[in-house]
Amino acid sequence: MNKIEILKQIALEAGKIVKEGYHASKEITHKGVVDLVTEHDIKTENFILEKLKKYFPDHTLVGEESHPQSDNDSYHYDKAIYIDPIDGTTNFIHGIPYLAISLGVWEKGEPVMAVVYNPILEEMFWAVKGEGSYCNETKLSVSSQEELQQSLIATGFPYAKVNQGIEYRWVIKCMTNILPHIQDIRRLGAAAVDLCYLAQGKTEAFYEIDLKPWDVAGGILVLLEAGGKVSNVHNEKFDFDDKSIVASNGRVHEQLLGYLELI
Ligand code: IPD
Ligand code: CA
Ligand code: CA
Repeated sequence: MNKIEILKQIALEAGKIVKEGYHASKEITHKGVVDLVTEHDIKTENFILEKLKKYFPDHTLVGEESHPQSDNDSYHYDKAIYIDPIDGTTNFIHGIPYLAISLGVWEKGEPVMAVVYNPILEEMFWAVKGEGSYCNETKLSVSSQEELQQSLIATGFPYAKVNQGIEYRWVIKCMTNILPHIQDIRRLGAAAVDLCYLAQGKTEAFYEIDLKPWDVAGGILVLLEAGGKVSNVHNEKFDFDDKSIVASNGRVHEQLLGYLELI
């Protein structure tokens, strides 16, 4: 089996754990005031880590629930796989089927392979650098919309909003700036899937502050391979150390940036 098929297989099997948990009662632990984790996130991540260790022994494995975190963390490795066992945990807990397992393989600072799998809706997004991106067997292509006013924009709100600090103020300021100039906003609750729906042409753009590599490492390649664009809010090449991510179909990117506050 080649590497992408192995990744898909791991995601499919991990998806069984997530799906079982989705329909079961959940023991919830608070990582922060509104940042939650369940035993299913941890069980799924442990399963994925065991499999990846076997098939990708040269890669550093960076999983949301196991990676030691500190404020001055740098997430750059020569070869790494960034793992979000359940992106969209709040949806998972509330029984809203917008969530995914995200696996993003990066080498020398570039995404090379990705799988974003929603086991509830049975949507397997996947991509290999230079070979396009797919949802199940269907090739993906971004929307051809060129007008921001006719664009549906996805975003998300950081857990740090509860502190009403700089992140909260950025979210509110951007929303105030942008809302009159777009078709509408969606806050769907899973950044990895937001990037894949953008790749699929369902939305025209996505922006968010304070995301971690495991939220976006998979979705970025799915989007780029579908013809999309990713940058930071300064319109520079996106880096995991950036505070913000801005992603689009490429056609409305600069119009959107014009309404986002610099941070
Ligand atoms: C979260 C989701 C959400 C985004 C949050 C993320 P989690 O990931 O991607 O859409 O707004 O910032 O942390 O906690 O469900 O894995
Ligand atoms: Ca996440
Ligand atoms: Ca998660």
